[in-house]
Amino acid sequence: MRTVRIGLLGLGVVGSAVAKAILDERGMSQRSGVRLELVKAAVRDLSKQRSVDLPDGILTTNPADVVGNPDIDIVVELMGGENPAFDLISRALSSGKHVVSANKEVLAKRGGELLETASGSGAKLMYEASVGGGIPILNPISDDLLANRIDSIRAIINGTTNYILTRMSGESAAYDAVLGDAQRLGYAEADPTADVDGFDALYKIAILGQLAFGTSVPIDGIHREGIGRIDARDFRYADELGYTIKLIAAAQRTDVGLLLRVHPSLVPLDVPMASVNGAMNMVEIEGDLVGPLWLQGAGAGPSPTASAVLGDVLNIARELGSPAAENSSQSPLPLAPMSGHTCQYYIRLTAADQPGVLAQIAKMLGDANISIRSVIQMDTDETSGRADLVIMTHSALEANMQEAADRLRGLEVVVELDNLIRVESYGQSQ
Ligand SMILES: NC(=O)c1ccc[n+]([C@@H]2O[C@H](COP(=O)([O-])OP(=O)(O)OC[C@H]3O[C@@H](n4cnc5c(N)ncnc54)[C@H](OP(=O)(O)O)[C@@H]3O)[C@@H](O)[C@H]2O)c1
Repeated sequence: MRTVRIGLLGLGVVGSAVAKAILDERGMSQRSGVRLELVKAAVRDLSKQRSVDLPDGILTTNPADVVGNPDIDIVVELMGGENPAFDLISRALSSGKHVVSANKEVLAKRGGELLETASGSGAKLMYEASVGGGIPILNPISDDLLANRIDSIRAIINGTTNYILTRMSGESAAYDAVLGDAQRLGYAEADPTADVDGFDALYKIAILGQLAFGTSVPIDGIHREGIGRIDARDFRYADELGYTIKLIAAAQRTDVGLLLRVHPSLVPLDVPMASVNGAMNMVEIEGDLVGPLWLQGAGAGPSPTASAVLGDVLNIARELGSPAAENSSQSPLPLAPMSGHTCQYYIRLTAADQPGVLAQIAKMLGDANISIRSVIQMDTDETSGRADLVIMTHSALEANMQEAADRLRGLEVVVELDNLIRVESYGQSQ
């Protein structure tokens, strides 16, 4: 049986799980026909307590002992962040070493450059674990679905925000309270910005967009909104209308190019995504031959992520897997602007509870070419003379909706435009 020698960059949450799975073996060599040997693991701090017992001589604080080591066949990058990961992956690939990475940030920001380096040297770069943790997504798109023209990908791809939104929905709890709990329970980082402001989801949809549509995506060209404005009332009102609220990351083929967007959306209660709860992830892929596919599972966590990392390692080791890079030879779609997106909208606003208010709001929307599907007056505060209004529109153009929202904010009878949430379309009447 052939032995393939592995060097790790990083031995944290995921790195330790990968090292443990290699050392424990668990029949992996029998299943794959390849024996993996852990040669080196680079870390920052040698004195740190690790959750895996390593044989002597494996730990190093010098990443060059991994990327420049002639005894290593595959470098597994599990450090995270753009730098020094980018330089280390580039050095490994240039010298002909294959690389497996779980690092969404470096792949979203500099994946194009890394894939070029890989194709220049003939090395493979695989990164299944960078999107959706343990769920196989990238390799199915580049292998099993290759006969398809991918028309859209929609995903719940960030476990932290899905955990927060699920709890807000189930307990009518406020965003800040649930975020605090999520931090105490380890579902959210001390600095939750990357998750709650949608950056993590943005990196992942950039990687998916590039792979499935061949379009190199500058990440600042992706529309991004976080979940901080979602209020317990939005869940109550959405539920009365037959929806829940999820942070959706989407990449969709449109007439003018590829539209990528990350924002909270109303999702109909009767579609599969509505029941993806807690830290679970789901990716919905629509191919022209296969139709809709739903891939669901643990989007993070040490063992699920190690499963995806080692799947790539074994694919390279067996020389069976196609590198993700191969799919990027398709002619790229141009990027489509968010202003051209069309969907229904949920508008929640606080307005003066007096005659004629609705007529003013309806006129303003009508002037922007937006027609109203329904208006519901929710809670009324008789002391202040204010009422919560929830308006559902018919399908409208994003540019028109944003213009109308600005004008609504300027209306004297509108105290506050509290929330504007897009509704995911599932082919129902608009
Ligand atoms: N955690 C998950 O569930 C998950 C899921 C999917 C993808 N990922 C991705 O997997 C990657 C690793 O995540 P993680 O959660 O395992 O991170 P982590 O626990 O913070 O581990 C990072 C590791 O990299 C080492 N490291 C960082 N900078 C280094 C440097 N300059 N030189 C040498 N070693 C360095 C650290 O060394 P020390 O231990 O000495 O500090 C640590 O061992 C990230 O890209 C992440 O986005 C994670």
